[in-house]
Amino acid sequence: MTSTVPPARTDAVPAARTSARTPASTPAARTAAEPPARAFPPGFRWGAATAAYQIEGAAAEGGRTPSIWDTFSHTPGRTAGGQTGDVAVDHYHRFREDVRLMARLGLTSYRFSLSWPRIQPTGRGPALESGLDFYRALADELAEHGIRPVATLYHWDLPQHLEDAGGWPVRESAERFAEYAALTAQALGDRIDTWVTLNEPWCSAFLGYGSGVHAPGRTSPADALRAAHHLNLGHGLAVGALRAALPSTAEIAVSLNLHAVRPLTGHPDDLAAARRIDAVGNRIFTGPMFAGAYPDDLLADTAHLVDWADLVRDGDLAEISRPIDLLGLNYYTPTVVSAARDGEAATARHDGHGASPHSPWPGADDVTFHRAPGELTAMGWPIDPTGLTELLTSLHREHGLPLLVTENGAAFEDVVGPDGSVDDPRRIAYIRAHLAAVHHALEAGADVRGYYLWSLLDNFEWAYGYAKRFGAVHVDYDTLARTPKASAHWYAEVIRRGGID
Ligand code: FCB
Repeated sequence: MTSTVPPARTDAVPAARTSARTPASTPAARTAAEPPARAFPPGFRWGAATAAYQIEGAAAEGGRTPSIWDTFSHTPGRTAGGQTGDVAVDHYHRFREDVRLMARLGLTSYRFSLSWPRIQPTGRGPALESGLDFYRALADELAEHGIRPVATLYHWDLPQHLEDAGGWPVRESAERFAEYAALTAQALGDRIDTWVTLNEPWCSAFLGYGSGVHAPGRTSPADALRAAHHLNLGHGLAVGALRAALPSTAEIAVSLNLHAVRPLTGHPDDLAAARRIDAVGNRIFTGPMFAGAYPDDLLADTAHLVDWADLVRDGDLAEISRPIDLLGLNYYTPTVVSAARDGEAATARHDGHGASPHSPWPGADDVTFHRAPGELTAMGWPIDPTGLTELLTSLHREHGLPLLVTENGAAFEDVVGPDGSVDDPRRIAYIRAHLAAVHHALEAGADVRGYYLWSLLDNFEWAYGYAKRFGAVHVDYDTLARTPKASAHWYAEVIRRGGID
């Protein structure tokens, strides 16, 4: 199993007792001359991450057409308060200011995503120069400030045209994705050296087509599984297209939200529940990508839903398992499961993936999810960094690939002080604890090359709209003014010192 570990523990992170408004008041600054107790390796990438639909806005500018998220967010009842990414935080017009902000924080790398419908509006045919020009300008601005770009090709914004043609449950979407990857790499390969094919294909497949809490909001277990295969295939075909278009020095990755799955007890039924969630939550991606095969137990668990022999064609697994250079891990919270418990409705899932009467776990929809021990973030996600260490060390052991933490961070109810500042000690405590978890993994031998805080800016948090703030930089949604929070100043100091105490 990729990541199933012993029963849930109770060693959660204590709440922060200190806060940091400016670098001068941080504990780190007081010891600035001393090397940090936990130094990270030279060249470690200190980053922050964002995604196109969550920050860009300018939804109808430059020839961009709707993505599935535009359609979904404009459908009544789909997002909190009916909020959309039409304007988001207007990064499309403010990217130079945002890059200057990154430079002030000392980020050495920035992970962003490319909007497919901004580059190739219908998902077919030639690329739109206006779309490419936006990303050329962004990459040039980053280069000017010495910040290394990491571009994600797909962070959930499928062109609506392709959804109308069937979306990810249809094989053609994988082929279209590879074509888009090729066009984009040909145009931007001189400026961008690290490429991520997909962000969290689990969410695209199972929240988009299973539970329906994400765009396009469909609820078919069979289609969710078909989507997962076609996302895998799209990834593999895109790796091939990127290798053909990019210089040999370019690095190719995928970002997976692997679940740190923990059985509630050691009872065999709970262990079986954990195995099933590990199969459809993790190994459905790591199996074909790294071992060239879907796990037998996954195929058995879902055989009543799809005909895998028909879905997976000859040659698909060879495409999907093309070697990549880096594996990106997105981690927020662990996942505690047990066998079904009497009287617990399947809809009362504590899986952290949004409420829906439809399960995002095909073949495992009777598994019960439990809230892990620990303090909760504003998303209701328990804080437990040990899952991050476990995933990094098990990925290192099983696949031996260099790793990046491509997302990690937390939403809290931030309060803007009378002077406009935002003191967010709980976010500082969260990040510190998770950086310590990355350091533990490094000490255990995992080859972790970088950490990307989610997120640079407060932004459109999908179905939650603007209610959940993940940014190190506060955004006033009336004026769009940016104000670095205490956590941003603290992170800047960590980067300057190259580690934490
Ligand atoms: C991840 C997404 C990212 C953001 C964070 C909180 O699943 O990749 O866009 O929503 O969660």
